[in-house]
This record gives sequence, structure tokens and C-alpha cells, in this order.
Amino acid sequence: MIVRETAGDTFEVLAPAKLNLFLEILGKRPDGYHELETLMVTTDLCDTLTFALDPSGRLTLECDDPALPTGLSNLVMKAAEALRAKAGVELGARISLSKAIPAEAGLAGGSSDAAAALVALDRLWKLSTPPGELDALAGQIGSDVAFFLHGPAAVCRGRGEEVEPIELPEAFHCVVICPPVGLSTAEVYRHVTLPPATRSIVPVLEAVRSANFEALGRSFFNRLQEAALLVRPELGEILDALANLSPYLDGHLMSGSGSACFGLARDLDAAHIAALQLATLGLGQVRVVNCGPRDLSSPA
Ligand code: C5P
Repeated sequence: MIVRETAGDTFEVLAPAKLNLFLEILGKRPDGYHELETLMVTTDLCDTLTFALDPSGRLTLECDDPALPTGLSNLVMKAAEALRAKAGVELGARISLSKAIPAEAGLAGGSSDAAAALVALDRLWKLSTPPGELDALAGQIGSDVAFFLHGPAAVCRGRGEEVEPIELPEAFHCVVICPPVGLSTAEVYRHVTLPPATRSIVPVLEAVRSANFEALGRSFFNRLQEAALLVRPELGEILDALANLSPYLDGHLMSGSGSACFGLARDLDAAHIAALQLATLGLGQVRVVNCGPRDLSSPA
């Protein structure tokens, strides 16, 4: 996440999409959620939010995507209200949200926007909330929100809200394809079969730490992929298309609970060739993204 103070009392935030390079389900919890172990990385596909002080004390959100709610069911508003209640202040803000991250894609756009709201409003309202308290608020808003307070890479456990940042020594490129139809996270989880034995996260972590991208692609794994294929069998066509691009890709996977899928490109040229070939198939919107430690404030 990149936070810029654009004028006195105004902040602009680039809120990144994430990809899951590994996701295993360790069990079902008494509260109905699933216990996870997942490796997430941020990308340079970002929503843009602005936050301006509203002296009237009102909290308002406008969004350039008319399909999204702008009331309390929007995670940005939830985050703003939760922070305000926690701090016991009656300060207001005018928030604008410009969407680039597709919804219901497994890219956690809404969660990233919520994390952006927590960080920006904490600064706008001069609250200096301790990091542990922001993490706790993030965890209450959604399972993926806390990750974005810690990117660019982390292992997330519990519901996803227990974040252990990890070092990502080198950035890499992925080609991401978002089918026109999204997937409901709750519905995908309902179709999950708990594994008899769980897959270890160690190989994917070793590959990331040593920047061995061939090994990284080989260790990609997402337990939710099978469940997503049950809900939306058409995803198989996208995964097959990515598999057919193996000369350019070291591995491919669905992100989170889908429906976006991605391939790990051998280099930037390979990413663009793979993207062109994928785009001709008309299976969804295709993008090349950079994952990991890059200063998003510098020109691309
Ligand atoms: O926390 P979040 O709102 O992102 O979760 C959406 C839904 O996904 C939950 O209501 C739940 O059905 C499912 N979920 C789960 N286990 C997780 C995370 C999400 O079952 N660890």
C-alpha cells in the first residue's frame, strides 16, 4: 500500500490486489470459518482512494463503479466506522474510491480498500492507533484485511488475519486473467472437502526466499481450486489455457477463492507474450502485474 499526503488534510492511497501463491485448509473451526495457511503477495494492480477531512463530522463514500454499494455494507465504510468507534472521535471524511481491482475475483480488492481506509483515516484524524490495534480492527472487518497492513508478502494463518510478514527478495511478473463472472467466497468454502493430509507450505516458502522461480511455480497450490471448479466448471478452460502457455510460465494457479487465475511468467517479455495469447481466447480480462517489493510511487 502506498500512502501519499496530497495536500493539507488530504491523503491518496494506492490499495493493491493480492495473489495467493499457496493456500491450504488445516481444518474447520467451531465458528464456521476455515483454519488456513496461505502465502500472499501484493501486486501493482491497485484501486485508488482519496480521503479528505469533512469538518461536518459526516462520513461519505463515492465510488466510480455504480455496481458497488457506498453505504455501511462497503468494507471501506465499515473500516471507517470501526476506527471512529474505537477512537471515540466524531471526525468525518469524504472518501472517494476508484476501482481497478475486479470484485469476486480472489484478489481481495475490497479488503485492500478497507486496510487503506484504516491507515489513511488514522493519519487524517491524527489518531496514532498502535499497530496491534489496527491489526485487531482489520481482523474484525474481514479475513484478508490485516495482510494489507503488512505486505508485500506474508504467511497468513487463522481465518487469514494472523499475519507473519516474510522477506521477498526479488519481484516477479504474473499474467492474471479475470473471467467475466466472479465467485462468492462463502459458496466456494461451502464446497471444500477437508484434505485427509495437509500440504506443507515449506517448499513454496523456500522457493520465495531463494528467489527460485522455477521451484516457486512447481510448488503453487490452492486447496480452494477444486471447490471453485465444482461451483464454476468453466474455470477449467482458463486453467487449461494457462497450462498450455508453459513455455512462458513457470506455474499457474487460481487466486484465493477465485475466480481470477494467474501464471508466473519466466520474465517480463514472457509475461507480455502469454498475456497476448491469453487475450485472443476471450476468456476474460488479462493483465500483466508486478508482484512484490517495488516502489509503486515510481513510474512503471
Ligand atoms: O472474512 P471474509 O468476509 O472475507 O469471509 C467471507 C466468507 O468466506 C466467510 O463468511 C466464510 O464463509 C468464508 N471463509 C471461511 N474461512 C476463512 C475465510 C473465509 O470459511 N478462513
